[in-house]
Amino acid sequence: MTFREDGQAALEWAARYLERVGELPVLARVHPGELRSRLPPSPPERGEPFADVLRDLDEVLLPAVTHWQSPRFFAYFANSAPEPGILAELLAATLNSVAFLWRTSPAATELEALTLDWTAQLLGLPEGWHGHIEDSASVSTIAALAAAREATGGRVVVCSGEAHSSVERAARLLGLETRKTPVDEEFRLDARALDLTDAAAVVATVGTTSTTAVDPVPAIADACAQAGVWLHVDAAYAGSAWVCPELRWSQAGVDRADSVVVNAHKWLFTPMDCSLLWSRKPEAFRAAFSVVPEYLRTGDEAESLSDYGPALGRRFRSLKLWAVLRCYGREGLQARIREHIRLAELFEGWIRDEPGWEVSAPRLFSAVCFRSDASDEENEALLERVNASGELFISHTRVNGRYVLRLAIGNERTTEDDVRRAWEAIKRASR
Ligand SMILES: Cc1ncc(COP(=O)(O)O)c(C=O)c1O
Repeated sequence: MTFREDGQAALEWAARYLERVGELPVLARVHPGELRSRLPPSPPERGEPFADVLRDLDEVLLPAVTHWQSPRFFAYFANSAPEPGILAELLAATLNSVAFLWRTSPAATELEALTLDWTAQLLGLPEGWHGHIEDSASVSTIAALAAAREATGGRVVVCSGEAHSSVERAARLLGLETRKTPVDEEFRLDARALDLTDAAAVVATVGTTSTTAVDPVPAIADACAQAGVWLHVDAAYAGSAWVCPELRWSQAGVDRADSVVVNAHKWLFTPMDCSLLWSRKPEAFRAAFSVVPEYLRTGDEAESLSDYGPALGRRFRSLKLWAVLRCYGREGLQARIREHIRLAELFEGWIRDEPGWEVSAPRLFSAVCFRSDASDEENEALLERVNASGELFISHTRVNGRYVLRLAIGNERTTEDDVRRAWEAIKRASR
């Protein structure tokens, strides 16, 4: 078989998969270890045909896949890998760029800077910020807090009790202490309770992981400015909503941040992984990360994006973002975000109208926290039954100490019919 024939078979597999993914059980129906037990424990001595790899993908691996591409994947923050992004990943792998210096990949370096500028324009972020791509928001936050430590000399990272666990992990890694500030009744950081003693940074969240709450960034920015503390905004999920002007209320104060992270792989229709990190203080990132040994020295008058984060070798991630931005345009992105919000609103309305059910937190974007008015144990058992049905996959969190179910819309293939099917399946499982 040639590359072309294998490639056609792989592309055919991908197209067929996307056509039928809505019919597959969303949550993988396997036990831990089951997949490994079906695969040889040692690698082959002799090379095998690629067709065998495709066959095993179908027959052995697929039952162990949880289908993030399913239109009824509603867990965590559901996302999408759209077709232009999938194809761009193939092309990026074909080029196999390793963009640690400008000269090792001028295209990857300059397209990354350009796509970050484009995305900043689409999201209404300030002009002139420096942007680059990390693999995940976790690493973006590590990079931002390393820059903050460099810039301020502080020893403490301040965030709310609702901030993502990646903040505490980043602080731990950087030898910083985490100080959690209480939240108000809508799960927003209570700015009056901020204690910035010895602080290097405050991490404010726009769109918290549990309830999508939006911290009061303007008040936090005031406090940071007064104390000389770095403000990092974690908008990993909700930042994509800023492509719609009517959702930019949630951007208030973000123009005063020192750094902002938005995951294009969460709600900006870009395949995993693509985390966008902007900063007004690129020099602090260079101070934290730039080490130039002799073998990396060049006379090029161009920046290397490896000076802004932990990784030296960097993937050509901007190619998929560029492909998505070009193929969808501002209008396409807005239409998808608006549809997800419409569907979440609809679902929220059904919960409110159904006796014996409650919406457990304000719904601001495309995720709904809800529960039946039974016990925590019964809600937990309900979640297990719903997910075991294979019809949909939802996740959970705790709100005010209570176990709540969480349905997040983020897949571009999700239709009103999928959301209706999900609600019917949830009600059925609760009876
Ligand atoms: C608000 C927030 N920040 C950060 C993260 C971490 O993202 P990543 O998986 O890209 O590290 C998440 C993940 O869901 C999140 O919800």
